[in-house]
Amino acid sequence: MEKQLFAIFGNPVQHSRSPLMHNHVFKKLHFSGCYSRILLQDGSRLKESFFAHRLSGANITVPHKEAAFKACDEVRGFAKEIGVVNTLINEKGRLIGYNTDADGFLFAVKEFDALKDILIIGAGGTAKALARKFKAEGYEVHVLNRSAPNLIYFKEAGFETYTWETCPISAYDLIVNTTSAGLSDDALPAPLALLEPLLKKSRYGADVIYGKETPFLRLCKQKQLTCKDGADMLLGQGVLANAYFTDGKYTLEEIQRAMKESFLF
Ligand SMILES: NC(=O)c1ccc[n+]([C@@H]2O[C@H](COP(=O)([O-])OP(=O)(O)OC[C@H]3O[C@@H](n4cnc5c(N)ncnc54)[C@H](OP(=O)(O)O)[C@@H]3O)[C@@H](O)[C@H]2O)c1
Repeated sequence: MEKQLFAIFGNPVQHSRSPLMHNHVFKKLHFSGCYSRILLQDGSRLKESFFAHRLSGANITVPHKEAAFKACDEVRGFAKEIGVVNTLINEKGRLIGYNTDADGFLFAVKEFDALKDILIIGAGGTAKALARKFKAEGYEVHVLNRSAPNLIYFKEAGFETYTWETCPISAYDLIVNTTSAGLSDDALPAPLALLEPLLKKSRYGADVIYGKETPFLRLCKQKQLTCKDGADMLLGQGVLANAYFTDGKYTLEEIQRAMKESFLF
């Protein structure tokens, strides 16, 4: 049987652990698939590149998730609400889009108890997915971003929004960094003078970046918050994406067990 091809598109994409995770699942579950990385500069060429590489499915990472939404012939489920796609499936030549990030993040923070007030730092694709999902689950969501234009979407959707200059020092149950600050640099997602008092009043901290201790996570630890990086979110979104890639052949438990093993490498 011919191998089905999958890939992750992004810029940067070299850091991504997705190939390791999905290839390990394919091997363990005897699925004939191969998953690689594709560096994509121009998001408007996503669809062309997807079909040129003869892919059966793909994941999309920073900064192309909104371009992925636009590239789809059809978008299903939660991705339709937020306009952000992180998983693509080739369904008989039509590009179908899904979003598995938000459910992946909920999976990651399920051990954090009594969450009510949540501050999301960042206003990109990941922030949209998490904000909408948290709201749907009944949490109070506030959004802080360095610049105002990307906050308009959140304001119109009924969220409290702040820039660095207007953010009050309130107590939160959870503060999440969804920006790419710290991904390939050593930056905090907001000024130290703002983050320090916010973290001092808060209980839990989470970063969606994985594989390194970001300056944000380091600061959370200094302020003695219980915190976690993006590894569990990566696992959660990856399990759900793999279930789409393998077209429901395996249970989520089987996929999760196999994918978790790849985190030991
Ligand atoms: N663990 C996982 O499974 C997982 C899943 C999804 C995403 N991620 C990670 O999530 C991060 C964001 O992805 P995305 O797709 O949401 O990106 P995106 O749509 O490009 O949004 C990036 C956001 O970060 C802000 N930002 C970027 N650099 C900043 C800096 N130096 N200081 C402060 N704010 C900064 C931007 O602010 P402006 O609006 O002012 O430009 C924007 O709000 C990436 O690091 C990605 O790898 C991880």
